[in-house]
Amino acid sequence: MGNMLPARWLSTLGAVPTTTPEIASLRALFPVLSQSVQGNALAYLDNAATTQMPQPVLDALQHFDRNDRANIHRGVHALSQRATDAFDAARADLKRFVGAGAEHELVFTSGTTESLNLVANGLSAHAGGNNPLRAGDEIIVSGLEHHANLLPWQRAARVSGAVLRILLPDAEGRLHTEDLARLLTPRTRVFAVTACANATGERPPVADLLALARQAGALTVVDAAQVAAHAVPDVSTLPCDFLAFSGHKMYGPMGTGALVGTRNALELLAPLRVGGDMVDWVSFTDASFAALPARLEAGTPNVGGAIGMAAAAKFIDAVGRSAIDQHLRALRTQAVQGLAALPGLRVLSPNAQDTAIVSFVTEGVHPHDIGTLLDGQGIAVRTGHHCAQPLLTHLGCGPTTRASFALYNTQDEVERLVAGVAKALELLR
Ligand code: ALA
Repeated sequence: MGNMLPARWLSTLGAVPTTTPEIASLRALFPVLSQSVQGNALAYLDNAATTQMPQPVLDALQHFDRNDRANIHRGVHALSQRATDAFDAARADLKRFVGAGAEHELVFTSGTTESLNLVANGLSAHAGGNNPLRAGDEIIVSGLEHHANLLPWQRAARVSGAVLRILLPDAEGRLHTEDLARLLTPRTRVFAVTACANATGERPPVADLLALARQAGALTVVDAAQVAAHAVPDVSTLPCDFLAFSGHKMYGPMGTGALVGTRNALELLAPLRVGGDMVDWVSFTDASFAALPARLEAGTPNVGGAIGMAAAAKFIDAVGRSAIDQHLRALRTQAVQGLAALPGLRVLSPNAQDTAIVSFVTEGVHPHDIGTLLDGQGIAVRTGHHCAQPLLTHLGCGPTTRASFALYNTQDEVERLVAGVAKALELLR
């Protein structure tokens, strides 16, 4: 860990540290948070969209660009070799972060969206029609999904002739294993589900759902974008074939992400892109592809980004996943209690556990107006459909206001959020 964290944190590593205020004291490591917005201290509560980066991650990015920046794999010179070593080390660190073993591989992508496109496209776009997904097969996608885990499957179904089925949530936005059991058939090839719904904060019973789907012979796909910063799944125990997550939602750089999969499952995928650095041999008319992971990583990768993403994973583990989780749970509980007490306000998935997201709708007031008034007080939240329009339509609520927390948020910021929403409702009604 070097000097990534203040001494008092280093001394507590290995033991679960802390109380909630101590975790939030780490905000001093995040330079962007020390600013004022509209004359108020910034309360950044849009972490489900993008988290901020701590100094150790900023340092790792800068170190690469100042000392080792070069293209990987193709150079015999010192910088290229150092860059290659750092890139390989980042992959190894991130594999450890998700519990990947020898049977797994990790492919770098630009984010969760690219990872999920790589899977859906890769199962349905092989040249010559030699696809794992064929006409008459079935794909099941949960109804909680971000568009990034729905639209690629809509397209894969269209291209392959497979049938897309949706595992709908109940009126409270919860998924049930009995409903999945009813949908599974011998033709089900894929089951895709989020570990946490970005629009509501719901945490479905992923392990049970995946086990059921795998038992039925389906490939299993998990969108882990919203849990990577505090409760990333362990792929050594979770029955999943593919796991996607983003760097920018776990204190890492934007434009970074990963797809982790079992080697057997990754071998099924047609590359999303073909070109440099992913071939074995090439002639003017044909080519054969390299082994994993290079086969799925055509072109110059975001080397600095991969290094920054690995630094972010180390930062999370240095602070402690369970300590972060506990802190986020406390903030979410406080937010739900405060907001649900306001008149004409409905919190979605109020009883969701271990989630950092609180999303709500208000009678007679548009979320954009609430978001704008909160911004006037320096409070950053997100409003709209959160790229999950079918879910919000199904729940009968339309656009929402969403606050989402990270380890640097404080109880005081949650109080400001609740007071700010109360004031906005008073003004707007
Ligand atoms: N997927 C991001 C969100 O939920 C952008 O806000």
